[in-house]
Amino acid sequence: ISKLAVLTSGGDAPGMNPCIRSVVRTAIYNKLQVVGIRRGYQGLIEDDMYDMEARSVSNILNLGGTILKTARCLPFRSDEGMEIAYQNLKKHGIDALVVIGGDGTFTGALRFSKKFPDIAVMGVPGTIDNDLYGSTYTLGFDTATNTVIEAIDKIRDTADAHDRLFFVEVMGRDSGAIALRAGISCGAEAILLPEKATAIEDLIKNLKTGSSNKKSSSIVIVAEGDKNGGAYDIAKKVQKEVKSYDVKVTILGHLQRGGSPSAFDRILGSRLGFAAVNALLSGKSQMMVGLEANHIKITGLEEALNQHEFKLEEDLMQMAEILSI
Ligand code: F6P
Repeated sequence: ISKLAVLTSGGDAPGMNPCIRSVVRTAIYNKLQVVGIRRGYQGLIEDDMYDMEARSVSNILNLGGTILKTARCLPFRSDEGMEIAYQNLKKHGIDALVVIGGDGTFTGALRFSKKFPDIAVMGVPGTIDNDLYGSTYTLGFDTATNTVIEAIDKIRDTADAHDRLFFVEVMGRDSGAIALRAGISCGAEAILLPEKATAIEDLIKNLKTGSSNKKSSSIVIVAEGDKNGGAYDIAKKVQKEVKSYDVKVTILGHLQRGGSPSAFDRILGSRLGFAAVNALLSGKSQMMVGLEANHIKITGLEEALNQHEFKLEEDLMQMAEILSI
């Protein structure tokens, strides 16, 4: 390979910037030319790209978001969109592509790379949802979880002062990863996740027991994708039955996606970016770099997407229940 392009796509995640920096500098160190594509696949189709140098990525380790910007791009799902994207890459003499994003990004990358195998493609898992096979952690998950913990600690203060029950909704349309980790870290009285159905009656029973056990406040974390509906719906049903607490709802929303990346995400981004370029240099393509047991692991994109299933960490869930009695 001689000219490499890098893009970020899908939901942004803290750690994307350290990863971009690592991709750019590893490529330059290896005498490759580097191009940054703005707004993910959208910019690829619109030919919105620019040459990058080592100094293009100065002082970005600490920045949340992504300096390349990102988008969720529908046109890239069509054959026509992919063809335009391919022609743009050829026009600039680009023969390798690093895509940083989640499962939607990888689905596009795999289809593209099967259609146009002369462009080498390497994926880096970047999503706060931590729901990709082939990497124990994805970029942004650690920072987002820490952001949630900081917010819930503050909610706990006021919940305790008023003897209130709070329902806190966190991100994760299909993934309870943030909810579970934040639940353990903040001592949530209950955690509702898309991976495990919780009957409202059981939740109510649990909260009543807590109240009779002299708990002065309670916090229930609701992952956005929980099948009981959103935090507001659940809160309404519970308030009717649990009179001992005044019930409040907080939806944390997109604040979970921002902020300066944690040490963990800066290091993860640097390692994965470095590994992605080195994998391309060694002739690999249609793969994803990840981290497992603190070692770089390379998984085929096809495998990463096929094996993609949301597993509940039962042991952590059980521990959280026991520790919150
Ligand atoms: O995939 C990351 C994520 O933040 C999910 O947790 C959430 O469901 C979704 O993106 C929100 O997407 P958007 O920012 O496009 O509304």
